[in-house]
Amino acid sequence: MSKTIIISNRLPLQLRIHDNTIETIPSVGGLATGMRSVHTQGDSIWIGWSGLTEEEFNLELKTKVNEALQKHQCVGVPLTEDDIEGFYYGFSNNTLWPLFHYFMEYTEFEKTTWETYRSVNQKFADVVIQNLDDGDTVWIHDYQLLLLPDLIRKKKPEVSIGFFLHIPFPSYEVFRTIPCREELLEGMLGADLLGFHTYDYERHFLSSVQRVLGHEIHFNNIHLDNRIIKVDSFPMGIDYNKFREAAEVHNQKAKKDQTEIQQEIDKHLKEGSNKAKLILSIDRLDYTKGIANRLRAFEYFLDKYPQFKGKARLVMLAVPSRANVPQYQRLKNEIDQLVGRINGKFAEVSWTPIWYFYRSLPFENLIDLYTSSEVALLTPIRDGMNLVAKEYIASRVDKKGVLILSEMTGASNEMSEALIINPNNFEEIADTLKFALEMPEEEQIKRNNALQKRLKRYNVEKWANDFMESLKTTKDDTQKYTLK
Ligand code: ADP
Ligand code: G6P
Repeated sequence: MSKTIIISNRLPLQLRIHDNTIETIPSVGGLATGMRSVHTQGDSIWIGWSGLTEEEFNLELKTKVNEALQKHQCVGVPLTEDDIEGFYYGFSNNTLWPLFHYFMEYTEFEKTTWETYRSVNQKFADVVIQNLDDGDTVWIHDYQLLLLPDLIRKKKPEVSIGFFLHIPFPSYEVFRTIPCREELLEGMLGADLLGFHTYDYERHFLSSVQRVLGHEIHFNNIHLDNRIIKVDSFPMGIDYNKFREAAEVHNQKAKKDQTEIQQEIDKHLKEGSNKAKLILSIDRLDYTKGIANRLRAFEYFLDKYPQFKGKARLVMLAVPSRANVPQYQRLKNEIDQLVGRINGKFAEVSWTPIWYFYRSLPFENLIDLYTSSEVALLTPIRDGMNLVAKEYIASRVDKKGVLILSEMTGASNEMSEALIINPNNFEEIADTLKFALEMPEEEQIKRNNALQKRLKRYNVEKWANDFMESLKTTKDDTQKYTLK
């Protein structure tokens, strides 16, 4: 029977070695959480990096590593420390990530990391070819693997290949600055179907293909000598029912069964005279997420509207991410200092303005935070989609709660009932926060009703099915075109 091969740099689970045994932890990030739901429902295998380098385990542990992956229908790509340094920390996260998010001043181009990026994409291709049977469909994900579609196509010209980019595709004026722009685009064009979160990213990509490679574009099709490649937008959804059901279970739990975090929330924030409203922010600690701006805007809000001192609290969850990249280390220091300074400036004996966690939390605790917060404040400077915005709304069983969302996120295109802000405009953020904290319940319910209906309909399953259907018809069209 034919299967789907999902390929991404990071597998949905990460392995760690502890006392000669293998521990698994779920991966964080939109790609992993979204595709995990797809993987567990279908007939698929997932190829990617386990989080361990080859140097970290011996032959005996290697069997255990493979067994742990096999249990989850995963196959590991063997990567060395040097591979991770050049490919992951280097070209993927020091070149492509900042460039595609318009952080040109952070973008470094080094020949050596580019070479490692190419060789690691080849390593992925080798593992894919070993696992590929006739009739299988290949679905490649994200910026770490831009060269992979063409590497597979060269070995297996007939295979059906889809590619989805989970981050923005930048405008041509930004993309053209990268020295290896032709090779990156040619690598992507090995796919039959290329998917993006929004129409804008799709348009930017088509414009780059036309101007860098000079290919003919008809609507959203790219015509090569013997193939048609389709480009389209597929805004990624969430596993709506999973969040919904988890929130319902959470709401029904007796007090004694609550998680520690929930008990803390109740104790410190909800009971007695100290009823502060919670403003939630959740992200990986990444400069694209606008965390420092958010803190400064929150400080400005407390200065401008002092009546909210003691009445509102920012609960900020930042998940450690890419800590070996210098920009991320600097950002961590900046945030630590900002939180310390703002708390020092405003704190009272019974109230601290910011509650800051720097760690990954289990799913249950995410639900605690989503369901307990009156406002979600998400202010990315750039974000391909932002699934946290969708998860927050899905978890609001009583339909109350206000989402404040940056217009620079892909999600803002589909969530116009949220309060949409410019993350660089502190005045606007402060005024919107006040408006959100004072919004009448009927208005909250009206807005969330519309948002929930849309999120329920365009869930992650529908997203994956739409993509796969489109890949199938593209392949059929290509075959007709080739026969002509
Ligand atoms: P990105 O993909 O850039 O990290 P998204 O908002 O699209 O941003 O996706 C983040 C994903 O990671 C969400 O699905 C969210 O549930 C998950 N996540 C965020 N914070 C945590 C955390 N502390 N622990 C576990 N999962 C988290
Ligand atoms: C974003 C990217 C993913 C990546 C995730 C977590 O969602 O689009 O490709 O996996 O961030 O980042 P990490 O570097 O830890 O894999």
